[in-house]
Amino acid sequence: MKFFVDTANIDDIRDLAATGLLDGVTTNPSLVMKSGKDFIPLIEEICGVVNGPVSAEVAATDYDTMIQEGKKLAKIAKNIAVKVPLTEAGLRVCKELTDEGTMVNVTLCFSAAQAILAAKAGATFISPFVGRVDDIAMDGMNLIEDIVTIYDNYPQFETEVLVASVRHPMHIIESARMGAHVVTCPPDVIRKLYKHPLTDSGLAAFVEDWKKTGQSIL
Ligand code: E4P
Repeated sequence: MKFFVDTANIDDIRDLAATGLLDGVTTNPSLVMKSGKDFIPLIEEICGVVNGPVSAEVAATDYDTMIQEGKKLAKIAKNIAVKVPLTEAGLRVCKELTDEGTMVNVTLCFSAAQAILAAKAGATFISPFVGRVDDIAMDGMNLIEDIVTIYDNYPQFETEVLVASVRHPMHIIESARMGAHVVTCPPDVIRKLYKHPLTDSGLAAFVEDWKKTGQSIL
């Protein structure tokens, strides 16, 4: 399972990249707004820190502007995945860019039907938003299970399921159980994965007992 971080905060990206466990980054216009930075130089900087796919989202919603924006974003670095919305125009852009060899992440997916269309358009990644489905009192993980099952039925679909809008560690564990290829998580959710109270108390006891031996390894 690949781990992407869902943020435009360069300090968090650097910090998580240093763990060696980070496989990519996803951004969106809201995260860029929150960062307060200029989009293009920010994406350039992120691509310099992370070798894996870095999703950069188009801002327009019409085909003509989206395709121009997508081509411009794709030129920033080899590891750019152009992010397009799951609309008719977005999938047209997706098909055109993937045919040219550019990675494309199709975002704002909320149904299995939409995910089938994205796979047919050759998307590199499909991003179903699990947390936002939960928010409207539906089961976001059912959507992930459906998409993984459907894609598994068609080996010619090469699109990877990128679980987005992740809110807590259980979303990640459930996604792994279902065999989703990628999860993109806010930095705090990735950090929560390390935590267990028994690890903390066990380590504290080992540290205390080691002190009592009076020894040093170095
Ligand atoms: C995915 O690529 C999106 O950027 C993101 O996961 C959306 O998450 P949110 O629902 O927490 O805004």
